[in-house]
Amino acid sequence: MNNQIKLKVNQLTKSFPGLDQPVLNNISLTIKAAERIAITGVSGSGKSTLLQLMAGLEKPDSGKITILEKDLTSLKPNELCTLRNNNLGFVYQFHHLMPDFTALENMMMPFTIRGGLTKEHKAQLSLIVKKLALEKRINHYPHELSGGERQRVSIARAIITSPDIILADEPTGNLDNKNANKVFDIFLELAEELGTSIILVTHDILLAKKMSKIYNLTQGKIRVG
Ligand SMILES: Nc1ncnc2c1ncn2[C@@H]1O[C@H](COP(=O)(O)OP(=O)(O)O)[C@@H](O)[C@H]1O
Ligand SMILES: [Mg+2]
Repeated sequence: MNNQIKLKVNQLTKSFPGLDQPVLNNISLTIKAAERIAITGVSGSGKSTLLQLMAGLEKPDSGKITILEKDLTSLKPNELCTLRNNNLGFVYQFHHLMPDFTALENMMMPFTIRGGLTKEHKAQLSLIVKKLALEKRINHYPHELSGGERQRVSIARAIITSPDIILADEPTGNLDNKNANKVFDIFLELAEELGTSIILVTHDILLAKKMSKIYNLTQGKIRVG
């Protein structure tokens, strides 16, 4: 693993109106290339909020997030879009697949947005489809797929561009344990092959234990757990 810092959170604070204390209170952490961290915490502890801030979808009250040496708050909207599309991948608890597009079209969406598919991308695509055992399902629509298949498609979509970092929010949260484990292990294998860093948000301690470092979020504070 090289030591390049991919993402840095520095003294981040975020409040929401109506809550008597900040959801995130002076949080700092660093993620290096190919590093895998888990952020755990009970429901409502601010895990998704932290991930939304890292994705540039919410703005902090104070503090700074740097991704690949770029300060998120100083980026123009189109620069933030480019960074999200080129360097980040996202997996959510509910798959967020587009219902009117086939599995393949959903997986290819990041390339469609970028405006084209190279030979290299095609090779990458078939490798990932094979690894996720989706060969026979690529022309199906999301509603024709099982929960596990849908989640595998959304993992394929997140990883297909070889992003620097994947932000995963309860990625297997709506699958049964056996499926969750299987899908998650394939995800980890793929990420390892591609050297992708992972930030996993989960309340599932067994999934968290598969990461190299576990943080716990409690009452706005983060600690190595
Ligand atoms: N957009 C928002 N407006 C107001 N309160 C919010 C908003 N998003 C999250 N919260 C509150 O912030 C707290 C943390 O939420 P969240 O980050 O979703 O927690 P977790 O993902 O750990 O379950 C909760 O009390 C939630 O109600
Ligand atoms: Mg959440």
